[in-house]
Amino acid sequence: MTVCEYSPGLEGIPATKSSISYVDGKNGILEYRGIAIEELAEKSTFLETAYLLIWGKLPTQAELTEFETTIRYHRRIKYRIRDMMKCFPETGHPMDALQTSAAALGLFYSRRALDNPVYIREAVVRLLAKIPTMVAAFKQMRKGNDPVQPNDELDYSANFLYMLTERVPDPIEARIFDICLTLHAEHTINASTFSAMVTASTLTDPYAVIASAVGTLAGPLHGGANEEVLTMLDEIGSKENVRPYIEKLIANKEKIMGFGHRVYKVKDPRAIILQRLAEQLFATTGDDDDYYQLAVEVERVVEEKLGSKGIYPNVDFYSGLVYQKLGIPRDLFTPIFAIARVAGWLAHWKEQLGVNRIFRPTQIYTGEHNLGYIPIEERICDTERPGDS
Ligand code: CMC
Repeated sequence: MTVCEYSPGLEGIPATKSSISYVDGKNGILEYRGIAIEELAEKSTFLETAYLLIWGKLPTQAELTEFETTIRYHRRIKYRIRDMMKCFPETGHPMDALQTSAAALGLFYSRRALDNPVYIREAVVRLLAKIPTMVAAFKQMRKGNDPVQPNDELDYSANFLYMLTERVPDPIEARIFDICLTLHAEHTINASTFSAMVTASTLTDPYAVIASAVGTLAGPLHGGANEEVLTMLDEIGSKENVRPYIEKLIANKEKIMGFGHRVYKVKDPRAIILQRLAEQLFATTGDDDDYYQLAVEVERVVEEKLGSKGIYPNVDFYSGLVYQKLGIPRDLFTPIFAIARVAGWLAHWKEQLGVNRIFRPTQIYTGEHNLGYIPIEERICDTERPGDS
């Protein structure tokens, strides 16, 4: 076994072999199963892309129809799960609600038969079908409303927007949203995917795998950044304020949300597509695009200041603008990221099962040895308690 040097954040350390997706961070290339993200965004749908990621090939028409139909009829969630969700505090973050609800699915579908292809398929269908329903249900229930039941007439993305708003969405809006899901569906072995793989490697159930990944995605350095981008744009307020605001962040060594990436050293290819979608949405609605123009100015100033360090917009920079324009509340942006990424997490779960060895990395111990046990009455207090003077 080769012993590697310690690398904080495991940067550059391969932790698996995978054929699911590929990122070339220098040239801004992202492929799912060898197909460029640009082509999938233009020609595919989220569910077809999910099928591609999970089963490793594009489905035939019959396979796709069967996949879509099965998912369509598994969208409802059990009333006991709804009742459980009603007890969640309305002030709780939807990501915490989602993590709890995803884990709860394991209570209801707990038969763990990881060597049975039927079990695997049912778990894939259930998770893809029910996660959006749970996100939309919490959005309604925290306002004291009953959740909106899934609409069997609508496809995946249109149905999700319908459950959020009780309004059948405009087809262009639904298509734009579906492209957003495709763009977020997979991205190699990032923090949440690694979390899913570590959990999967213990051979626990897939609901626990997805719940652990949701918890990891929730952090502001990962999926939570898109919410914070809009907070930043609000704080900036006007084009004139962009430069001083960004300069102050840089001077204080603070991170600019929606910028930078461990792998991409150029503009994230998904940010390029999302920017186009944002432009299209503003053009379609004919609304004032001040917000969008503010974002473009932020990109211009950050590129001027930090472009030489390879810091450019990532996927989160323009996605928030698109979701806001679609009327989606900010704290649902990360749950929507999760809805999409379930496809990638499941693909990695399935791949992990095929070659499984439990993850058990090593560590470099920096503590002491042979200290002996000190009786409690001989211990010296060396920390001040709050309030001590
Ligand atoms: N703003 C300002 N400086 C930055 C930024 C940023 N957003 N990102 C990286 N840097 C600087 C950082 O200060 C450091 O500079 P120096 O070498 O002078 O100390 C250098 O670039 C390397 O940064 P790092 O934090 O060591 O890089 P990382 O690979 O560990 O972190 C990152 C990657 C995405 C966590 C980071 O770029 C970041 O915190 N970005 C802001 C949060 C964000 O937008 N997250 C979404 C990531 S994409 C979607 C996802 O994965 O969920």
